[in-house]
Amino acid sequence: MFNTITVVGAGNVGATAAQRLAEKNLARTILMLDVVEGVPQGKGLDQWQSGPIEGYDTKVVGSNDYDAATGSELFVVTAGIARKPGMSRDDLVKTNAGIVASVSAEIARVSPDAMVIVVSNPLDAMCYVARKGTGFPRERVFGMAGVLDTARYRTFLSEAMGISVQDIQAMVLGGHGDTMVPLVSYTTVSGIPVQQLLSQEKIDAIVARTRAGGAEIVGHLKTGSAYYAPSAAAVQMVEAIVLDQKRVLPASAWLTGEYGLRDVYLGVPVKIGRGGIEEIIEVTLTDSERSQLGTSADAVRVIQNLIDQG
Ligand code: LAC
Repeated sequence: MFNTITVVGAGNVGATAAQRLAEKNLARTILMLDVVEGVPQGKGLDQWQSGPIEGYDTKVVGSNDYDAATGSELFVVTAGIARKPGMSRDDLVKTNAGIVASVSAEIARVSPDAMVIVVSNPLDAMCYVARKGTGFPRERVFGMAGVLDTARYRTFLSEAMGISVQDIQAMVLGGHGDTMVPLVSYTTVSGIPVQQLLSQEKIDAIVARTRAGGAEIVGHLKTGSAYYAPSAAAVQMVEAIVLDQKRVLPASAWLTGEYGLRDVYLGVPVKIGRGGIEEIIEVTLTDSERSQLGTSADAVRVIQNLIDQG
C-alpha cells in the first residue's frame, strides 16, 4: 500500500479514479487536487464517507494547494479540458499543454521522486509535456491510453463472438488517437488466433469502432468525454505499480529506438511494477502493423513539435 496517491483534476475522470483507488485500498490517503475551490474538498469528503459502507479505510481528501501533495508517491494527471463533439483530441493541445506543464512543475517541486501516470489529452503529447516539465526519467512518466483502447477492443470482440471478455487477450498500440494500432495478429481467445473465430470483415469493423471509441462516447454525452473506462484503465496501471504486479500492459512510453522509433511518446507493450516502466517489450509486428505504428508516431511528433514551438 502507498501512503499517498494524488489525482490531479477532480473532474469526471479524476474523481472517478479517486473513488476506484479508494475502493481498492491502494493507499492510505487519496488526495484530489483541482484549481476549482471546494470541488476536490467536497468530492473527497463524500468519497471518504463511503468507506464504512464499501469497507475501505482509505482517507480521501481534496485541496487546491500542491503543498498538500508533498511526498506523494504517485500522481495520476487528469487535468485539462475534455473534448466536445467534433473536436479531435489534438484540438485540445494548446490549452492542455499549458495546464499539464504547470502541473508537472508543481509535481517536481513537491515530490521529486514520484511516478506520474498521464491521462490528459492529447495523451501521448501530454506525456511529452509532463516529462519535460518534471525532468523525471522515462521509467517514471508514462501514459494511460492503451489499456483503455484495448478494453474497448476486447469489449467489442466479446460481443461479436459471444465469449467472455476475460478470455480475450489483445493489445492496442500506437498513439491514443485515430492512428492507434490494434494488433490483430496478437489477438487471441485463450490462445486461439481471433482470425479463426471471426471473419476479416467483422474484425475490420471492430478495429474501426475501437479507433473511434472515444468519439462515439463524446457523441452521446455532447458535453464531455468518457470517464468510467478511462478511470478504470488508469487504476489498473496504478494497481500494477503499487502491488508490483509486473503486468504487461500497453502504455505510452518514451521511445529511444524501440520499434525503430525514437524521441516520441507512443503506446507500446511495457512491463509495469514498483519501478514504473521496468521494461519495454519489443514484439515482432507484421509489415502493415509496423508501418501503422510509424504513421502513428509521425502524428504524435507533429503535436510534440507544435509544443516545442510554443
Ligand atoms: C477517450 C478519451 C478519454 O478515449 O481520450 O475516451
